[in-house]
Amino acid sequence: MRSIATLLLACAGSALGQNFSLDGNYGSPYPNATYPGFASDNPVAIAGSKSHQTTPPKYPSPWGAGLGEWATAYEKARAFVSQLTLEEKVNLTTGTGWELDRCVGQTGSIPRLGFRAMCLQDSPVGVRYTDYNSVFPAGVNVAATFDRAAAYARGQAMGEEHHGKGVDMQLGPVAGPLGRTPEGGRNWEGFSPDPVLTGVMFAESIQGIQSAGVMTSAKHYIGYEQEHFRLVADSETWGFNIDESGSANLDDETMHELYLWPFADGVRAGAAAVMCSYNQVNNTQACQNSYTMNYLLKGELGFQGFVVSDWIGTRSGVASILAGLDMTMPGDAADYTDGQSFFGANLTVAVLNGTIPAWRLDDMVVRIMAGFYFVERNNTRGPINFSSFTTDTYGYEHSYVGQGWTEVNSHVDVRGEHGRLIRSLGARSTVLLKNVNNTLPLNGKEKLTAVFGNDAGSNLVGPNGCTDRGCDNGTLGAAWGSGSAQFPYLVTPDTAIQNTVLAAGGAYESSLDNGAVDTMGTLARRANASIFFANADSGEWYLEVGGNLGDRNNLTLWQGAEAALEAVAGNCSNTILVLHTTGPVLLEKYKNHPNITAILWAGLPGQESGNSIADVLYGRVNPGAKLPFTIGKDRSDYGTDVLYTPNAPVPQLNFEEGVFIDYRAFDRHNETPTYEFGYGLSYTTFEYSDLSITKMNVSDYVPFSGYTTAATTYGNFSTDPANYLFPANFTRVPMYHYPWLNSTNLTLAAGDPHYALPGFIPAGSQDGTAQPIPKAGGAPGGNPMLYDVLYRVEATITNTGSVTGEEVPQLYISRGGPYDPVKELRGFERLSIQPNSSTTFSVDVTRRDISSWSTVEQDWYVRNTTKKAYVGSSSRNLLLQGLLP
Ligand SMILES: *[C@@H]1O[C@H](CO)[C@@H](O)[C@H](O)[C@H]1NC(C)=O
Ligand SMILES: *[C@@H]1O[C@H](CO)[C@@H](O)[C@H](O)[C@H]1NC(C)=O
Ligand SMILES: *[C@@H]1O[C@H](CO)[C@@H](O)[C@H](O)[C@H]1NC(C)=O
Ligand SMILES: *[C@@H]1O[C@H](CO)[C@@H](O)[C@H](O)[C@H]1NC(C)=O
Ligand SMILES: *[C@@H]1O[C@H](CO)[C@@H](O)[C@H](O)[C@H]1NC(C)=O
Ligand SMILES: *[C@@H]1O[C@H](CO)[C@@H](O)[C@H](O)[C@H]1NC(C)=O
Ligand SMILES: *[C@@H]1O[C@H](CO)[C@@H](O)[C@H](O)[C@H]1NC(C)=O
Ligand SMILES: *[C@@H]1O[C@H](CO)[C@@H](O)[C@H](O)[C@H]1NC(C)=O
Ligand SMILES: *[C@@H]1O[C@H](CO)[C@@H](O)[C@H](O)[C@H]1NC(C)=O
Repeated sequence: MRSIATLLLACAGSALGQNFSLDGNYGSPYPNATYPGFASDNPVAIAGSKSHQTTPPKYPSPWGAGLGEWATAYEKARAFVSQLTLEEKVNLTTGTGWELDRCVGQTGSIPRLGFRAMCLQDSPVGVRYTDYNSVFPAGVNVAATFDRAAAYARGQAMGEEHHGKGVDMQLGPVAGPLGRTPEGGRNWEGFSPDPVLTGVMFAESIQGIQSAGVMTSAKHYIGYEQEHFRLVADSETWGFNIDESGSANLDDETMHELYLWPFADGVRAGAAAVMCSYNQVNNTQACQNSYTMNYLLKGELGFQGFVVSDWIGTRSGVASILAGLDMTMPGDAADYTDGQSFFGANLTVAVLNGTIPAWRLDDMVVRIMAGFYFVERNNTRGPINFSSFTTDTYGYEHSYVGQGWTEVNSHVDVRGEHGRLIRSLGARSTVLLKNVNNTLPLNGKEKLTAVFGNDAGSNLVGPNGCTDRGCDNGTLGAAWGSGSAQFPYLVTPDTAIQNTVLAAGGAYESSLDNGAVDTMGTLARRANASIFFANADSGEWYLEVGGNLGDRNNLTLWQGAEAALEAVAGNCSNTILVLHTTGPVLLEKYKNHPNITAILWAGLPGQESGNSIADVLYGRVNPGAKLPFTIGKDRSDYGTDVLYTPNAPVPQLNFEEGVFIDYRAFDRHNETPTYEFGYGLSYTTFEYSDLSITKMNVSDYVPFSGYTTAATTYGNFSTDPANYLFPANFTRVPMYHYPWLNSTNLTLAAGDPHYALPGFIPAGSQDGTAQPIPKAGGAPGGNPMLYDVLYRVEATITNTGSVTGEEVPQLYISRGGPYDPVKELRGFERLSIQPNSSTTFSVDVTRRDISSWSTVEQDWYVRNTTKKAYVGSSSRNLLLQGLLP
């Protein structure tokens, strides 16, 4: 046996007996009703973020016109819809019911024309609820790549997999939540709290997915920034007593400059659908909010596709439809499998009783079919070859009611070569935060490599052992909720690092139980390199993990990693920390810990997790990713937090901070973060020089003016209820939502006599005459002049190190107004540069990039202020600057 002295020598330079205390500044959950954060000092934001404020009515619902690239899709959609009967139209707007068909959402079909149901399927990381699919890195990882092409490639690969399963619409990508609070449970499904970074990645993902002939539903629209209180049903599960979903109360300027921004990019990129969210906005349901759907989305952003509800996010029929909702999913009314629908027969009745104008129903269906044709779905569509509700080959077509026994799963392998892409994306999204004296890359010649932490190993019940990934056991390759998928395999760090070490002839041991603190310390003393894996998880509110109801309760590490890491780092001066987290965790003490020589953030890398991190650790991939969020020193530094306890029967989520989230808040309040937004190291070094700013010659902004055409109806329909009864001898699937009526008495046909009483019809909602187009509107994405290029900013980036590397130069702009952020990201590019060579970084600055939202004019304008441009390697390392002339 080796002596202690030898053991100590093995971990060369070990901090003998130094037991660095790693305790201290733990985050703590805030049970208080109102988080003691800081408000913005912008009077518009303060005035517009009050409890119980209301949303202004905006009617009628704008009808799609086939603007821009949508012209051909609209021609085809109108031709198709012109052939349909009223019931067939209604069928396309209504889900048949939860677990009543194979996909998580399925519309009715049109048997007369051989048109099968549309299949809508989760998730933003892969095809959910099936097999032989891939699990891709999460959205937050895509953001960390700062690489447009990576976002597109991942989108395309995911689209191909959905296509291969017969899915018509992938439920994603995500730009809401944006990431108002670092604890937000589903932030990782989206990209980044920066609207420009999110907007770019959202648009690329949409185009990638749709290039495979699959529709996207850009989600969740809008103000869905926390899990707590998103739905009454989940509230009851967790013992909260609320009357309605929480309301995001936010002002018009913050809406435009922050939360709506990426949706403008998504609409401009051609998203076939937008999914409205569970929360309320200004105390009206997001799926029933005429201001957000009719005015902002379909009016100002010129959205040509359709709005689909989040699952049981629809809270009414007539009111929601007049406010702009086009499709309800999964079709059920107040709750899953309640056997009732706000659409279906109710929609047929509402058209027959004159409450929903015929043009509105036609617009709903034309929008739906336009989305279908826009992605050229008709040219490629195959059968739905899987069932979400059983993994067996044979099962029920209509699973909830046990009808239609058949082969429901063909187990089609749709993965192609995507594993390679996933491995590369995992490595290229890993952010190197600390690397003292070139600790990394490891050279593979370390005599003994030791790997530590539950997060390095397997989940003992298998990678899919917990429903929808609703546990934190083993390595965290994907977080929990409907944004998950079944792993085809999950390569653990333990396996991948061992493979590398053994191939190089080294010795390898791993210790994967964070409870075994002493054993870990002993192993660390002997190791030449100790690699510690830690994580922090979050997800969707319907599942609870370790007391976290979707949103995280703290910003510290999970799985008991803190004490275990203390033991390892206290015993080995070459301790490398790898983090798999859904968002920021507090790292100040590890940044300052002398024995922790390297820190990497690897996010949620998907199925190739271990291979991806090994590629970075051993230098097969030179890291080039950047933090897509701020890592603060303390939870309170963010100035925003989740509301964990209801502050009213309808929880009021007041976005008092306005646009000051993430780095905008740190800048405004002069807080120094541990690692700033946009930060990330490489194994090489870069120099920035030669800033040049060129003013382009463009004409002045002209607010859009003009009117739409009048609304159109397609085809005729009988107004006699007798024509809409269930066909004779028709065999109904129990619980299914059909467009047909049970009775010629419309009140009886609607089912609920109270519901069928004449309801309130908002003024103007039935008006199909030509309507004014908003000044900021006129085309998908908004007024086209917003996208005019006003400046070109260029700089020279030189690789001054000895290896090829990738760098992400970033352009920040200061708009210069009294309540504007100190600076805002407006452009970036991921460049690969050889040693001793230079590349030009070039960003086109659009009018939108320097504009502000005028709540008075209801339009964008360029404020008369001095505007500055900064180019740097992070949001705080701004190496070059100049004025925008
Ligand atoms: C906030 O919560 C803490 C911990 O539960 C409690 O001690 C404190 O009194 C609360 N403050 C307010 C204002 O309710
Ligand atoms: C919410 O209310 C604020 C304050 O009245 C207003 O500025 C904002 O435009 C409203 N937004 C929506 C979506 O209703
Ligand atoms: C509506 O869809 C259902 C389910 O696909 C189908 O059985 C029914 O025949 C359709 N109705 C019409 C009018 O096409
Ligand atoms: C129509 O909507 C009402 C309100 O939710 C519901 O009670 C009724 O069952 C619905 N009718 C049908 C046929 O689904
Ligand atoms: C028309 O039908 C809809 C759907 O059942 C119902 O909500 C509405 O109150 C009815 N309106 C009238 C005027 O009967
Ligand atoms: C799809 O294309 C085929 C072949 O061109 C055509 O027969 C069919 O009607 C189309 N279906 C739809 C829904 O447009
Ligand atoms: C880095 O290396 C230099 C030169 O070998 C040494 O002086 C310094 O102490 C090292 N720094 C750390 C943090 O180990
Ligand atoms: C799995 O994770 C849960 C919490 O997510 C924990 O309670 C449980 O002990 C873990 N089981 C194993 C075997 O690690
Ligand atoms: C933070 O939350 C995780 C997960 O619930 C838990 O394991 C950890 O102990 C918490 N940290 C602190 C300091 O309470």
